[in-house]
Amino acid sequence: TKNWELSGKTVLITAGPTREKIDPIRFLTNHSTGKMGYAIAEEAVRMGAKVILVSGPVSLAPPKGAELIEVESAEEMYRAALEYFAKADALIGTAAVADYRPKYIQKDKMKKKEGEQALELERTKDILFELGKRKEAHQVIVGFAAETTEIEKHAIGKLARKNADLIIANDVKQKGAGFGVDTNIVTIYKKDGSKLELPLMAKTEVARRILSEVSLLLKRDDSL
Ligand code: PMT
Repeated sequence: TKNWELSGKTVLITAGPTREKIDPIRFLTNHSTGKMGYAIAEEAVRMGAKVILVSGPVSLAPPKGAELIEVESAEEMYRAALEYFAKADALIGTAAVADYRPKYIQKDKMKKKEGEQALELERTKDILFELGKRKEAHQVIVGFAAETTEIEKHAIGKLARKNADLIIANDVKQKGAGFGVDTNIVTIYKKDGSKLELPLMAKTEVARRILSEVSLLLKRDDSL
């Protein structure tokens, strides 16, 4: 059943990992399964939003009622997100985007040879940072922070650097949190300096909490 809290709003979500090609056989990636992002997409649909889900390769069923844009690399995810951002009221970046990609993609399979093999990497675009620069007053940006050390310091840093309204920090070393599991343990850091520490809960419930914060921020903008 819908509760229409986000009706009339467009929510753009990035989810899953990215794949950065090394050669026709191999790529660099990470442990993201898309569960957190897909849970947010499903919940946003339930709250009445128009949902655009830009997803890296995952094995989840497409959320009903959302528009799914499938991408592979960080660059493709950036382009898709940029295309839809102007029409979005909120951007929620749950994707685990590669920070580096191989500087050269080998046209043919790299053959093994004696000794060590170095792989030269270059930075990818930071999607949240790039869209943060284009953010308009009515738009809300939510980032995630997947950390293993100094969570609060990194989360607060990301809030400022990425021009985000909320950062959802998860300590991915904690049991029941982060990659792959159906639950998460998050702290929501807000721009006003306050934070909301949530206990272990299902990703669907985490999604609900994040989206109700987003809906409050969007309502505040509507009444300006
Ligand atoms: O997919 P699951 O298996 O359910 O796992 C969920 C999760 C652990 C992936 C999720 O909860 C999470 O923490 N997502 C963010 C992962 C991440 O890459 O965090 P980060 O701290 O490196 O990045 C910070 C923020 O910038 C994120 O919102 C990220 O989407 C964004 N980013 C990062 C790099 C980049 N090049 N572009 C980005 O937009």
